[in-house]
Amino acid sequence: MKDQADKLRQIIANLKNRHVPNQVDSEKDIPRRSSRVITVTSGKGGVGKTNVAVNLAVSLSEYGFKVIILDADFGLANIDVIFGIVPQFTLVDVINNRKNILEILTEGPRNLKFISGGSGVEQLAKLDKSQLDKFVENISLLDKLADYIIIDTGAGVSENVISFVMAADEVLLVTTPEPTSITDAYALIKMVSNRNKTKPIKLIVNRAETQTEAENILKKLSLVAEKFLSVKLSPLGYVLNDEVVPKSVRMQQPFAIAYPKSNAAKHIRDICKRMVQIRVDRNHGGVKSFVNRLVSFLNN
Ligand SMILES: Nc1ncnc2c1ncn2[C@@H]1O[C@H](COP(=O)(O)OP(=O)(O)OP(=O)(O)O)[C@@H](O)[C@H]1O
Ligand SMILES: [Mg+2]
Repeated sequence: MKDQADKLRQIIANLKNRHVPNQVDSEKDIPRRSSRVITVTSGKGGVGKTNVAVNLAVSLSEYGFKVIILDADFGLANIDVIFGIVPQFTLVDVINNRKNILEILTEGPRNLKFISGGSGVEQLAKLDKSQLDKFVENISLLDKLADYIIIDTGAGVSENVISFVMAADEVLLVTTPEPTSITDAYALIKMVSNRNKTKPIKLIVNRAETQTEAENILKKLSLVAEKFLSVKLSPLGYVLNDEVVPKSVRMQQPFAIAYPKSNAAKHIRDICKRMVQIRVDRNHGGVKSFVNRLVSFLNN
């Protein structure tokens, strides 16, 4: 008896000493009902979207979040190349009812999962209401599986890419310091803001030579967008030009895994930390509303 009472006292004492944060430290503490759907995009091609998307996903995963990457660059299988894994099935198999969404998830490193879009988007736009409902019901299963869904889009400002941008909860816009990349990023912000002024756009500068150069671009582009488009961008961070990036692409491994001590990996972790510190309302959005929005944009 005495033993039990002692044990109870011990438990109560431990509970009292337990650290109870009175503030939400990061998103991990927020109950989740749906995934945070993030589209990674750029005005100009070849600026580092796929590398940012994959390594951010690795970093989020290492933080303990469940992450699914969707390769929506339908022309080129970008993510496959960086992971060195070729998925057997694509979103087209789900659209055509050959597979369910769980069967087309490919396992990547660090517990990551990825989905190959295939030519799924074009087909998505052609579905009738009942086929679409079925697809939405199926893909909504991902809300239970993922804290984050990171979507890697293709280059250029095509209607498909814009639809992914408009449908996402948040947009990660990548630019390099090249003037053409910056002006194309601005053009994309303008396009988005013409349709929705409040779409959260987060900015990443990739391949700057120095921190100062990166920070100047983050500052200037944010100022210009606010002044001329009344759009409030969130500067999220930067990744400097780093030789480990092309090296790890050749090794078919994300640099955050192949070179975790590199500057590029450290910068990605900084970006990841900022991402998770941003609080989002998990009771809305998610995969289901994303797909519904996507289809309505594709059809307009
Ligand atoms: N921070 C960096 N430092 C050095 N090289 C980089 C960096 N980021 C990207 N690269 C190089 O730039 C090339 C393009 O990168 P990536 O494929 O990620 O761009 P993308 O925007 O996805 O291209 P696309 O528009 O064709 O999809 C790659 O070969 C990569 O090695
Ligand atoms: Mg790419």
